[in-house]
Amino acid sequence: MPRLHVRAPRGLSIELDDGRRFALHPIWLRERCRDPRSMDPRTGQRLHDPSDLDLDLAVTSVSEPESGRYRVRFSDGHESEFTSRELLEEAALAPADHDIPAPRLWTATTGDVRRFGWSAQPDDRLLREWLGEFFKTGFIVFSGVPTEPRSVFRVGNVFGFTRETNFGPLFDVRSTASASDLAYTSLPLDPHTDNPYRDPVPGVQLLHCLANETTGGLSTLVDGFAAARALEARDPDAFDLLSRTPVRFRYQDEVTELVASAVPIELDVAGGLVAIHFSPRLDFVPLQPPDELETYYRARRAFDHLLRSPEFEIRFLLAPGELLMMDNRRLLHGRTGFDPAEGLRHLQGCYIDIDGPRSLYRVVRRRLAAKSVP
Ligand code: OGA
Ligand code: ZN
Repeated sequence: MPRLHVRAPRGLSIELDDGRRFALHPIWLRERCRDPRSMDPRTGQRLHDPSDLDLDLAVTSVSEPESGRYRVRFSDGHESEFTSRELLEEAALAPADHDIPAPRLWTATTGDVRRFGWSAQPDDRLLREWLGEFFKTGFIVFSGVPTEPRSVFRVGNVFGFTRETNFGPLFDVRSTASASDLAYTSLPLDPHTDNPYRDPVPGVQLLHCLANETTGGLSTLVDGFAAARALEARDPDAFDLLSRTPVRFRYQDEVTELVASAVPIELDVAGGLVAIHFSPRLDFVPLQPPDELETYYRARRAFDHLLRSPEFEIRFLLAPGELLMMDNRRLLHGRTGFDPAEGLRHLQGCYIDIDGPRSLYRVVRRRLAAKSVP
């Protein structure tokens, strides 16, 4: 159990079991006071503006009325209690999604397409299993989703709220004569992330197969994070350039014009992978001096060749009643071409935001912990 130490004259520190110590600034602690004068107990939202706190605020006393519970008095006269668990959670300095299962990067040899039987009323254990798979691999395939049109919403609404776009709340992927997007033809689609021209990009894509009477039209997936890390190892300059060069993506039709810029490999401040933005049908790099563009084109080619190589791609047939749900910020997807003369191929898709599955995972974990389910 972490312990709170008084550090005269000004502050405190928290010591973890492994001996690490973090100094706690008095304001950092004061703005986390959860007493009913400081924080609304129902929403957990603050009832005061922490920027109004005295910049010279100090801790005047600390007591431990019972083991693991601390009463802290501040120089502004305020008094509040903290448990060591709360302090630990707050002090862990973790990114917002640290409590979600971490990605396990995969390649063609380690990637595996497991089918999970769909249930319209999943219990919490099943939800935890599904979400665990989704966060680790970046995707999940369900079987047994009724092939009635619009069933994709029933799945999407279990995990989050559907994100409507100019294509409507739902899109039909089938080959049509006057396609507004190459997805609506029978052409093969190279690995891409969807809709990089939106800000923000759709976090999660769901594709539900209603019919596939063709022998082609296989679904393809690539773990973009695995390919990016491979690029970093093999060609660090290319990786670096693709994480620094914003590219412009655009979608245009009669009633819509969407433009957004994104770096192909988006990193956080610590160098962690945040998202891949890659769609060879749509990317246009802004004009730069020719020698800089030459380096960019070399880097893009190196990444593209990894993304299209059999080293990273898995392919499988999405059969009628199967539904693929994937993280559109990590995975790239595509399909092989097909012959529409062989028969119908019809998928229905929709998007949800990535915070939906993350929220559900935390709620499910909380409920299982309350029931002490391992
Ligand atoms: C798409 C797409 C894949 C498929 O519509 O964006 O990538 O299997 N479709 O047709
Ligand atoms: Zn797509």
